[in-house]
Amino acid sequence: MRDSGCTTFIVHARNAILGKLSPRDNRRIPPLKYDYVYRLQNDFPDLIFILNGGLDSFDLISKEMQQNRGVMIGRAAYNNPYILSEIEHKWFGEPLKSRYTVASQMEDYASVQVTKGVRMSSITKCMLGLFKSQPNAKQWRQILSDHSKLTKLGPAAISYALSKLEQVNNSS
Ligand SMILES: Cc1cc2nc3c(=O)[nH]c(=O)nc-3n(C[C@H](O)[C@H](O)[C@H](O)COP(=O)(O)O)c2cc1C
Repeated sequence: MRDSGCTTFIVHARNAILGKLSPRDNRRIPPLKYDYVYRLQNDFPDLIFILNGGLDSFDLISKEMQQNRGVMIGRAAYNNPYILSEIEHKWFGEPLKSRYTVASQMEDYASVQVTKGVRMSSITKCMLGLFKSQPNAKQWRQILSDHSKLTKLGPAAISYALSKLEQVNNSS
């Protein structure tokens, strides 16, 4: 692969047991082998190896950033997208954005994207976990996965969902 010109490799650091485990289970069950990635980087210092697999907290990401030239985050960014704000703040020194600010910025983003033909559900499905572990996370998910609401309201479905959160938070 190096001889063909590839210089950066993203390694999901576990064996896949093909034929026995589903792709989903293959991302969960076989043990992670981060040391293989460290060794690859050591053996091929002219190439760049990026560690992927199982990085689900800022502390773990930060620890692996000390030992690797980079990391890739998959499910954590999808299931708990607010981790990206935490990384932006703690790793890159940017001001910490609230979940509400992130959601409002996503509404602005969605307003542009829908004019290009992107479906609202394609945007909101990556935001369903934004309020994970917060009060009313379920209600947030319900509104933003309700196709009739998304069709009727378009990008405004996001501020509608936020207003519902505020109402419940104020009354509880
Ligand atoms: C929403 C989502 C979509 C993904 N799509 C692909 C894909 O199209 N092709 C692929 O090889 N891996 C795909 N993956 C797997 C990731 O590339 C990654 O290797 C995997 O999730 C393991 O990293 P993680 O433990 O940080 O999740 C996807 C993962 C997620 C969460």
